[in-house]
Amino acid sequence: MTLLVTGGAGFIGSNFVLDWLAGSDERVINVDKLTYAGNLQNLASLAGDARHVFVQGDIGDASLLASLLAQHQPRAVVNFAAESHVDRSILGPGEFIQTNIVGTFNLLEAVRAYWGGRDSKAKTAFRFLHVSTDEVYGSLSKTDPAFSETNRYEPNSPYSASKAASDHLVRAYHHTYGLPVLTTNCSNNYGPFHFPEKLIPLIIVNAQAGKPLPVYGDGQQIRDWLYVKDHCSAIRRVLEAGSLGETYNVGGWNEKPNLEIVHTVCALLDELRPRADGKPYKDQITYVTDRPGHDRRYAIDASKIEKELGWKPAETFDTGIRKTVQWYLENPDWVASVQSGGYRDWVSKQYGEASAETTHL
Ligand code: NAD
Ligand code: TYD
Repeated sequence: MTLLVTGGAGFIGSNFVLDWLAGSDERVINVDKLTYAGNLQNLASLAGDARHVFVQGDIGDASLLASLLAQHQPRAVVNFAAESHVDRSILGPGEFIQTNIVGTFNLLEAVRAYWGGRDSKAKTAFRFLHVSTDEVYGSLSKTDPAFSETNRYEPNSPYSASKAASDHLVRAYHHTYGLPVLTTNCSNNYGPFHFPEKLIPLIIVNAQAGKPLPVYGDGQQIRDWLYVKDHCSAIRRVLEAGSLGETYNVGGWNEKPNLEIVHTVCALLDELRPRADGKPYKDQITYVTDRPGHDRRYAIDASKIEKELGWKPAETFDTGIRKTVQWYLENPDWVASVQSGGYRDWVSKQYGEASAETTHL
């Protein structure tokens, strides 16, 4: 049996592939374009492992997808491939439309043609699992209940709007063509292999390099945080037992304001790798201009996946964030390797030329 995964060289996809092959001998075909966010070093431990077949390719390339599906005959496709960073989507939404919307459409078309040609047993067993985000639901006030699967879609950034569009396409392929789809909408992930443009790895990496720790606006925006391996276990569970056409919200019941996250990371670094001058890392916190249209609060009600599929996260925020900080301290080579020229260009656009120079990212 074979699984085809897209975007499996990125943060969540690579964790998924590694965890999958740690628990199963089912082969994984991994199709990834290797944008700035895709890094084969994440999968270095699989070198020479015949169960993992890596193919550099675009989910928008319908003929490549058609030939891979025909050749490997997967029993499921798990779609992680996406442009995933909100700030990049604000500076340049075009790639988000191409990959997240047009790319997902082309992938769905290739999968529909492949699935339509299978025998009835293989057709019934087939699954297309689309990995999405809680950001499609928009922003909550402090007192609103957490997002449930029946919340209206109210995306506010080009990133979340493009993910919302892809979710709708996936839904439509089920209702119109009967494609056996599943969708997961997860909250903010953190953990190993997280690209250091996102809040938690950026804070860890900047703190150690003696650079400013940029907090947008007042730092009181709230996110729900889930350790990446718990997201991966939720995806495995939905793939195994989810009801066709259903969506599942995935979250850790860990709502925290950004400033608290930054303070927690700083305190862990003070403990595990104290500054040479004995001062606390929190002294490096710098308030910077807020993100345009910044969503104030996300919160996930994960009771559906917990009740119907019996899934629960294994990590608390305290255990997960400690593991994460430790991983970054133990893997400076990985951090150095992902900080390529392309990444430095992005930092200078986002934080300004001067800050790019002073932050040396
Ligand atoms: P990421 O940016 O780290 O990785 C994305 C991967 O997709 C990269 O390896 C990249 O090379 C690849 N890719 C991009 N465009 C492609 C294309 N056209 N064809 C093939 N591959 C392409 O993202 P991530 O954080 O790992 O997120 C994975 C998925 O999970 C995304 O769909 C994202 O929307 C969703 N998600 C992320 C989070 C989070 O907190 N990171 C939370 C919920 C949902
Ligand atoms: P991010 O990791 O980009 O994830 P998302 O925007 O998908 O939630 O950001 C998490 C939160 O941290 C978000 O509210 C924006 C904020 N943030 C900062 O305050 N400073 C930063 O440098 C970054 C990258 C994010």
